[in-house]
Amino acid sequence: MSSFQPGIFDKRFREQVFLEYGLARGTSERAVRDALRAVLALNDEEHTVITVAFGPHLWSMLDGHFDFPPFSLEGQVAATQGDLLVWVQSPDRSHAFDGALAVHRALGDRFSTQLEINAFVYHDMRDLTGFVDGIGNPQGEKAKLAALVGQGHPGVGGSFVLTQKWVHDLAAFEALPVAEQERVIGRTKEDAVEFSDDEMPVDAHVGRTDVDRDGVPQKIWRRSVPYGTTTEHGSYFVAFSCELDRFDYLLRRMYGMVDDGVRDRLTTFSTPVMSSWWYAPTRDFLQAL
Ligand code: HEM
Repeated sequence: MSSFQPGIFDKRFREQVFLEYGLARGTSERAVRDALRAVLALNDEEHTVITVAFGPHLWSMLDGHFDFPPFSLEGQVAATQGDLLVWVQSPDRSHAFDGALAVHRALGDRFSTQLEINAFVYHDMRDLTGFVDGIGNPQGEKAKLAALVGQGHPGVGGSFVLTQKWVHDLAAFEALPVAEQERVIGRTKEDAVEFSDDEMPVDAHVGRTDVDRDGVPQKIWRRSVPYGTTTEHGSYFVAFSCELDRFDYLLRRMYGMVDDGVRDRLTTFSTPVMSSWWYAPTRDFLQAL
């Protein structure tokens, strides 16, 4: 599993730009490969770390070994499946902007921009709600096991990715007393202590997402970051998984579509307005493009 794209686990950078693209009609496979090589050449591992992932349509153009369906949650959330995801991570805004603009120019008219999000690490890795986000992630080798496709499975060494632009209603969330906000998340606000099983409300976010399925913990590797302006803001949810179905299951748990039918209370205060999932191939695959 040594050939994963290093940006997936690289947490050095506070500034991030996420670019979602659609493939322009009539673009040849050769033109796509040329454009992707130009994008990947921008990766300098220091000021501009670039991670790429493909939607199902573009993936089937580049690789015939396995396919996967476009994002859908049976109409429960906005499904806006894109063709190409480019994630630029940088130490400062200047490099993030330079990197994103260079990506945009390298793709030229072969791809059209569906979403561009300027995101950032907020305080000590908090979501805009003020809660620490990412602390429940698996660590070390367990992170790799959760994020990377294992031996014997199609896409081994790569990773499935879920991205969602969530828009928060911060005023509504902040109107709750802190103790109630903590019951929405399932952790304390100041120091992020997880509630015990007895304390955990059935509709708390951590209660819905810290879950086993057929005895297998449904762990994923989350890299969500806040974005926004004073008038529209929220979280760009981004997570990596060894299997696509894990995302589907977790979202179904959040939207009350499985098991006990309980809906995650977090969805009262935030709404996904864009959702795609992707496959991020290995570095070896990308080097051979
Ligand atoms: C508005 C969007 C979201 C926000 C603000 C948010 C925020 C949080 C926070 C504050 C935590 C607790 C801290 C931590 O464990 O890192 C958490 C945990 C978690 N979230 Fe989310 N989340 C969002 C959406 C999602 C989505 C869409 C999924 C899955 C598809 C998800 C999966 C998880 C998982 C797996 C955990 C860790 C549970 C555990 O094992 O302890 N989250 N999230």
